[in-house]
Amino acid sequence: VHWSVDNVGDKAFQSAVDEAGAMLRDGKLIAFPTETVYGLGADARSDAAVEAVFQAKGRPADNPLIVHIADEQDALLAAAAVTETAEKLMQAFWPGALTIILPHNGTLSTKVTAGLPTVGIRLPDHPAARAVIRASGCPVAAPSANRSGRPSPTRAVHVAEDLDGRIAGVLDGGPTGVGLESTVIDCTVEPPLILRPGGVTQKEIENVIGAVGVDPALAGDSQPKSPGMKYRHYAPEAPLTLLDGSAAFMREQISASRERGERVGVILTKDLAGESGAEREYVLPDGDPETVARELYHALRTFKQTEVDQIFMQVITGEDLGFAVMNRLVKAAGGRVLTENRML
Ligand code: TXA
Ligand code: MG
Repeated sequence: VHWSVDNVGDKAFQSAVDEAGAMLRDGKLIAFPTETVYGLGADARSDAAVEAVFQAKGRPADNPLIVHIADEQDALLAAAAVTETAEKLMQAFWPGALTIILPHNGTLSTKVTAGLPTVGIRLPDHPAARAVIRASGCPVAAPSANRSGRPSPTRAVHVAEDLDGRIAGVLDGGPTGVGLESTVIDCTVEPPLILRPGGVTQKEIENVIGAVGVDPALAGDSQPKSPGMKYRHYAPEAPLTLLDGSAAFMREQISASRERGERVGVILTKDLAGESGAEREYVLPDGDPETVARELYHALRTFKQTEVDQIFMQVITGEDLGFAVMNRLVKAAGGRVLTENRML
């Protein structure tokens, strides 16, 4: 089933979320929009429903799912207790792009938490997400609604590309706003530790609860603490290479690639459009981190292997939301970054 839920609160919206909510309660898989990316929802208490999520995505069983709730007090449907720090984060950032890890209360399917003693909980800031979760009456386990390893879906058509025939329905709320997944923060340690950078920045978090840690693996030094962070992710159909250098360096690399006989795609900003020398350009309206975050996964998905052999993109600044964007880009590129040899 495909439901359009563009007009929040109108009759079509209400009947769609009621129907989808009943299907969730019934153990079916329903994709829904959030402010970050589309999620693939299932009743978090049902082993069978959660197992079906792992099957549909082709997701490794040791990678736990985030539990989505519709109201702050429902955190206790998943968590054993809410700490003072977690409470402050919920007050400041919920509904929103922050997933909070707490000890779980033992009522969820153990497949949701991949056997860990903890659970990630999020209250999304999207009317259709909240309405369908509320209508289902369950805590809703929802990973991003893509096949494992692919870029996360930021439009309903991306969900269809990856999961058509594998799920019961999708609520189509149009393109998502943030475009990158939530920040994941572990509140079972002191100080709390950011496991995945995302829609809420470290600075914003520190303004509320003071200094937090950042998993050293995010700088590439060690094994990540979050199970999901070790897997290949966000991969486009053709290999992506990041370029750290000038526009001239980018044109050189594109031209060298074309001389090797490759068909080249490039993701670039308006100011460089039309002069890259690539066969295909995806033009970002702006190069600021918010715009790149919003467009990135769609951009990566537009390059089909039937059309290009190689994708290039220039790196962006690694501050704030840019840190999260670069985390995804480096993974999408499988670590391939070419740096311009600047003369000093
Ligand atoms: O924005 C988002 O977070 C989206 C939307 C749908 O809410 N969801 C999402 O889910 O990105 P997923 O499954 O693609 O990513 C969940 C991440 C993984 O890296 C996973 O390992 C981590 O959260 N995670 C979940 N539970 C955890 C736990 N108990 N301890 C450590 N990491 C956990
Ligand atoms: Mg994902």
